[in-house]
Amino acid sequence: MCGIVGAIAQRDVSAILLEGLKRLEYRGYDSAGMAVVEAANKIQRQREVGKVAALEEAITKYPLPGRTGIAHTRWATHGKPSVTNAHPHMSGENLAIVHNGIIENYEALRQDLRDKGYEFTSETDTEVVAHLIDSMYQETGDMLQAFRKTIAQLHGAYALAVVHSSEPNRILAAREGSPLVVGVGIGENFLASDALALLQVTDRFIYLEEGDITEVTLEQITIWDGSGAKVERPVVRFEHGGLDSVEKGEYRHYMMKEIYEQPKVIKATLEGRISGDHILEQVLGADAANVFDGVGSVQIVACGTSYHSGLVARYWIEELVGIPCQVEVASEYRYRKHVVQPDMLFVTISQSGETADTLAALRQAKKAGFKSALAICNVPGSSLVRESDLTVMTQAGPEIGVASTKAFTTQLVALLILTIALGRRHGLTKEKEAELVEGLKALPGLIQKVLDLDDVINKTSEAFAEKHHSLFLGRGSMYPVAMEGALKLKEISYIHAEAYPAGELKHGPLALVDKDMPVITVAPNNELLEKLKSNLQEVRARGGELYVFADAEVALEEEPGVHVIPIPAVHDILAPIVYTVPLQLLSYHVAVLKGTDVDQPRNLAKSVTVE
Ligand code: G6P
Repeated sequence: MCGIVGAIAQRDVSAILLEGLKRLEYRGYDSAGMAVVEAANKIQRQREVGKVAALEEAITKYPLPGRTGIAHTRWATHGKPSVTNAHPHMSGENLAIVHNGIIENYEALRQDLRDKGYEFTSETDTEVVAHLIDSMYQETGDMLQAFRKTIAQLHGAYALAVVHSSEPNRILAAREGSPLVVGVGIGENFLASDALALLQVTDRFIYLEEGDITEVTLEQITIWDGSGAKVERPVVRFEHGGLDSVEKGEYRHYMMKEIYEQPKVIKATLEGRISGDHILEQVLGADAANVFDGVGSVQIVACGTSYHSGLVARYWIEELVGIPCQVEVASEYRYRKHVVQPDMLFVTISQSGETADTLAALRQAKKAGFKSALAICNVPGSSLVRESDLTVMTQAGPEIGVASTKAFTTQLVALLILTIALGRRHGLTKEKEAELVEGLKALPGLIQKVLDLDDVINKTSEAFAEKHHSLFLGRGSMYPVAMEGALKLKEISYIHAEAYPAGELKHGPLALVDKDMPVITVAPNNELLEKLKSNLQEVRARGGELYVFADAEVALEEEPGVHVIPIPAVHDILAPIVYTVPLQLLSYHVAVLKGTDVDQPRNLAKSVTVE
């Protein structure tokens, strides 16, 4: 999704801006651009379709010297990917702007501006904002006033940053519905849509709030809230594990690095939350105990991979807590009427904490009368975290690969901790809690053992490279694991992958099964194993090739057409976490064989901050 970087310094800023854009590449984009105010009070701009590397090449040829600048990676919403639609957009020669989000009333504004004589060179909603600021500047002669007056006329969601060649000593920016942070330097300051973009220059950030407008100069950061009052916002130190956590190191792709980080980040997610044989629910928030006492049912809302972790949690909550749990994708939930029960806990799950639909669902739930909202999230300071009453932070560290891996497994860990905390109030015994805690503590070691199967899984992946379709089967809490496996394969290898509860096979998908349709199954040693085995027979009988990730102790025989990859024995409740990992590895290797852009699959974005 779109990314913003801005810098004002006593040195040329183009290298800082480029580095920032590179760090935002993982979010997905189709074009990139930069505008820098030159010493001679002139703005120079470069824009390119495609990768940031193309922009870098252009800037190497035609440098953009100057100490104040803004840059952008665009993910097309209004208008196709093209140079003319790429940001920064300009009004005349003197004003440049970058924008994330959507301006809903841009058509009406554009008509007004056309009537005033402005000409448009792009199809974007952003160019409207550029001209609108310019028209206000003609009236007021002051950029801050012009910017304020413009903001007052915009409807929609946006993060904006603007520079003017007559006022080279400041960048103005605003946030409403799209994230924006100010990076605090010494004698230089920065802006970005994600703190990650600025870690090479600072680790101190001010997270702007909804409605904030800011003026950033070399020495000062001034912020006004939505009512126009000057406000102080706290400067927060970036909490993630430093620069190395956003670099690929020895790995060929971020996705592989992130898969391999899972033992470490699961351990980090457990840290401080377990004491001996029980969990410490106090660390879930000062008010957690009070809130949990009153919970009689749970509503979970999320998108994408995060939605799948919610689906697993439903099995846990209904089995271990014994209270009803519903799970829904946020884009559906937000647009329908629902019944809010007074004892319902509203839970959102999100890696980024900025997914537009999830945030909208949370805001709507609050209006609809939910007493408490809990967020499971990976990004401190994100909108979701700030707007929720309770948060359980996952400690996955920055996740760069668009296909989510370590965020998912740490979400599951956080959800199991939540399940145990709720279960205590509904008859979950101390013994059962101790058993689960022991399972949680064993997880990093077990996952390491699965990672050690990488070569075997890599070999298995060869069978998929030429296939066009695949079917993933699971039963019980392994059904959402099958869904997540199918999502991983389709998003990075572009192979059509569907997931079905194994019991539904006969109701349709069996018709598709033949030798060209590999069937992948996750088969831990649980009470559903025998039923699953008969589903597998149904596949074999139709000539389907089976790839079974099965508990090493269940003695599933290899035979022609049945490929068994043994997975170490694991506690039934924790099996979804462990069995996710081989499916991640399988997708990764298939994608590498197919030569796709593993970390930035086509058409997808890491953080979907528009609807
Ligand atoms: C995008 C990403 C997915 C992610 C989903 C939800 O589609 O590509 O990896 O699962 O958004 O994102 P969130 O940040 O809310 O977990």
